Amino acid sequence: MKRGYKIAVIRGDGIGPEIISEGEKVLEAVSELEGFELEWREYPHGAEHYLATGELIGEDTLTELEQCDAIYFGSIGDPRVETGVLEQGILLAMRFYFDQYVNLRPVKLLEGVRTPLAGKGPEDIDFTVVRENTEDFYVGIGGRAKGKGKKREELEIVRELYHIKFGLDIESDADELAYQIGVVTREGCARVMRFAFELAREKGKKKVTSVDKANVLTYGYGFWREIFTEVARGYPEIDTEFNFVDAICMWLVKNPEWYQVVVTPNMFGDIITDLGAMIQGGLGLAPGANINPDGVSMFEPIHGSAPKYKGKGVSNPIATVWAGAMLLETVGEKRASERVLGAIESVLRAGKVRTYDLGGTSKTSEVGDAIVREVKGQD
Ligand code: IPM
Ligand code: MN
Repeated sequence: MKRGYKIAVIRGDGIGPEIISEGEKVLEAVSELEGFELEWREYPHGAEHYLATGELIGEDTLTELEQCDAIYFGSIGDPRVETGVLEQGILLAMRFYFDQYVNLRPVKLLEGVRTPLAGKGPEDIDFTVVRENTEDFYVGIGGRAKGKGKKREELEIVRELYHIKFGLDIESDADELAYQIGVVTREGCARVMRFAFELAREKGKKKVTSVDKANVLTYGYGFWREIFTEVARGYPEIDTEFNFVDAICMWLVKNPEWYQVVVTPNMFGDIITDLGAMIQGGLGLAPGANINPDGVSMFEPIHGSAPKYKGKGVSNPIATVWAGAMLLETVGEKRASERVLGAIESVLRAGKVRTYDLGGTSKTSEVGDAIVREVKGQD
């Protein structure tokens, strides 16, 4: 019997549908050549669906998605919906529900792509960011308080913090405040760190860098450091180092060649991977994989929905196609995955078919077609 995989597809908002179509096209082509089948299951979630039905993503859908081998995700975000609603209600909801605790983001400058970093080339920019994906400031604990007697229980917590920290009585001394709490757990840190070390081992990398801000956020990231030191003991052949998050932003621009595998708490990982996307040639080229090694993983470009470009057919589909290659690798189709990445590389190296962000005039679908031709041409 043929190998087969059920892939849930959430096209989402803005340019999501058009870039996902190219990804599907490429994955279909490679599946035929490599002798496996993809069964696509469409889900309508996103702004349109939310505005029409009020559903973000419900328990029923999540249970259904659980039956799939992977989720292929376009992008969400729409000017008609208040910022944060779709992001938290759909994207983060899935990351948390499926416990996709690793957000894997390769930062690799492919040949034929220009980096804004002067004097740096593909041999200098090739590392992987392993971003923790279910903890830290993303846990959604926080609140706002104003005046007297509002939101009793929350006010109790804040009152206590306020009192311990400043010796003030919030009800009489503070008029309005907001707080947001980050949480990191021992196992939450350890598991993503183990993943980073295992990845380094598997790919023959020599060093893992840990990112934090332990000089100021001493409780949370002091804890993170302690755990990193413990986990690192299990991998004596791999070198380690600590970088503060502000410092790594500087070094990634100055000396990206220092980095091989970078493991980071969620919030800092969000920030440094946008920086990473730019040094690898732009957001149009940056894929991400939300991974639960024992469960359902989700693959997406790291860019957003770019509403301005919706329906124009000009957006770069490469980040999404690359995310598709990561999907194939994760379900066990390594050869197919390598073929797709190889085809992306050939198209970029040749430089003839490229979208506006890379200085070209090609349409989204022309880039998809060119990658398909390359995938077939390797036969
Ligand atoms: C990302 C995005 C998300 C994040 C948003 C859309 C919730 O910026 O995947 O990097 O902050 O993780
Ligand atoms: Mn981000």
